[in-house]
Amino acid sequence: MVASLLLKRLRTCLAIAFYAVDVCATFQDFGIPPSNAIVEIRAFNVVNLTSVTGSHQVFAPVLPGHVNLTVPVHSFLIEHKSSHSRLLFDLGVRKDPWNYPPAISAFFAAGIYSVPNDFKDIGQLLEQGGISISSIDAVIWSHSHLDHIGDMSKFPNTTTLVIGPGTNKQLYPEYPDGVLQASDFGNRSVHEVNFHESTLMFSGLEAIDYFEDGSLYLLNTPGHLPGHLAVLARVTPSSFILLGGDSFHHPGQLRPRPRFQLHFPCPAHLRETTRSSISTDYFWSWGSQKDNFDTVSRAEPLLAISDLADSVYADPVTAKVSVEKVATFDADPDFLVIIAHDTSLMSHIPYFPAALNNWKESKWKEDLVWRFVDENNPAFVFSPK
Ligand SMILES: *[C@@H]1O[C@H](CO)[C@@H](O)[C@H](O)[C@H]1NC(C)=O
Ligand SMILES: *[C@@H]1O[C@H](CO)[C@@H](O)[C@H](O)[C@H]1NC(C)=O
Ligand SMILES: *[C@@H]1O[C@H](CO)[C@@H](O)[C@H](O)[C@H]1NC(C)=O
Ligand SMILES: *[C@@H]1O[C@H](CO)[C@@H](O)[C@H](O)[C@H]1NC(C)=O
Ligand SMILES: [Zn+2]
Repeated sequence: MVASLLLKRLRTCLAIAFYAVDVCATFQDFGIPPSNAIVEIRAFNVVNLTSVTGSHQVFAPVLPGHVNLTVPVHSFLIEHKSSHSRLLFDLGVRKDPWNYPPAISAFFAAGIYSVPNDFKDIGQLLEQGGISISSIDAVIWSHSHLDHIGDMSKFPNTTTLVIGPGTNKQLYPEYPDGVLQASDFGNRSVHEVNFHESTLMFSGLEAIDYFEDGSLYLLNTPGHLPGHLAVLARVTPSSFILLGGDSFHHPGQLRPRPRFQLHFPCPAHLRETTRSSISTDYFWSWGSQKDNFDTVSRAEPLLAISDLADSVYADPVTAKVSVEKVATFDADPDFLVIIAHDTSLMSHIPYFPAALNNWKESKWKEDLVWRFVDENNPAFVFSPK
């Protein structure tokens, strides 16, 4: 019975594959074991961070008028109800950026990085929502950059800090250029993940089963910085959210790709508006003509990972491979990919206290994934202005 069903599914897949490869992929085809264990995910935009003339350090091409970059800074609450565990994935920016080590605070003093004078940090946002900061069992840093590490000294020493393999742990002032300081580690337990302890591999990304029940995986996603981590959260038994951290910074570095276009076709109105809104002086596809861009025949992401000398990507080549792996999830209907600085999501996903778990049945993804090419979206960087 089971065998004949499998055979039937195989035949259907083969028949469809004749027309379109991979249509039958599900999470199990990624090597992810089945499980009914889930976590609840809630998102925060802690603050909007502006980087003056920072765009070229992030993506290419940078069109006239788009040299400055303002991005949301996302933080995520991850709740594992069955063990009463609460984790945070990234903390955002601290409220008092002048208290970062000089290598970082200098950028704020010079106005190169800026945040509003006063905003609620992640601790305040949690407490305001009735979640005590002392109830956070662990903080996972995607990496040790200022907009992800927050202020660990606000957390009790019972909160564990989880960091990726090879994270640079040189502290200021022993190391004058250090971007971390003693208060970031404090007297808490710091757990440096070791991917060699696991044999799990999903679409080429090494994975660790955090709660050992299939609800939450840490993913090895190097490139932006040594030790960069992403998280794959099971939010229903068969749907997932991939929290990509800074594995890339703009949705145009992820999309569009052929498999993505197959499962998530460009909405008709955007297909039309992008004909004139996307500049053919800077972007091309085989179906394009001068001043008439064709989005559907674009077979690679609109934006590249910056590989300039001052790129924010420590290793642009490795970062590109990590993005390609993440893109296989993005193309699949079982996964929603959310990065730390996706400007296209701003005010389009429900933030805390709402949970993101029902994204699939709510059909958010179809709507979200193409918003970055809408000329009214703040992520639109595809024509000079
Ligand atoms: C960030 O900017 C967006 C768009 O301008 C705005 O809607 C949102 O409230 C801002 N968020 C924060 C935390 O300031
Ligand atoms: C970038 O920001 C700087 C500093 O705020 C400002 O002087 C400049 O006009 C901005 N450039 C653009 C293209 O918006
Ligand atoms: C760690 O604990 C020791 C002893 O309680 C204390 O002197 C020190 O200031 C603490 N360090 C940090 C970074 O909190
Ligand atoms: C942890 O914090 C508690 C309360 O602040 C303090 O009493 C204890 O000494 C600290 N433990 C370490 C190892 O620093
Ligand atoms: Zn960042």
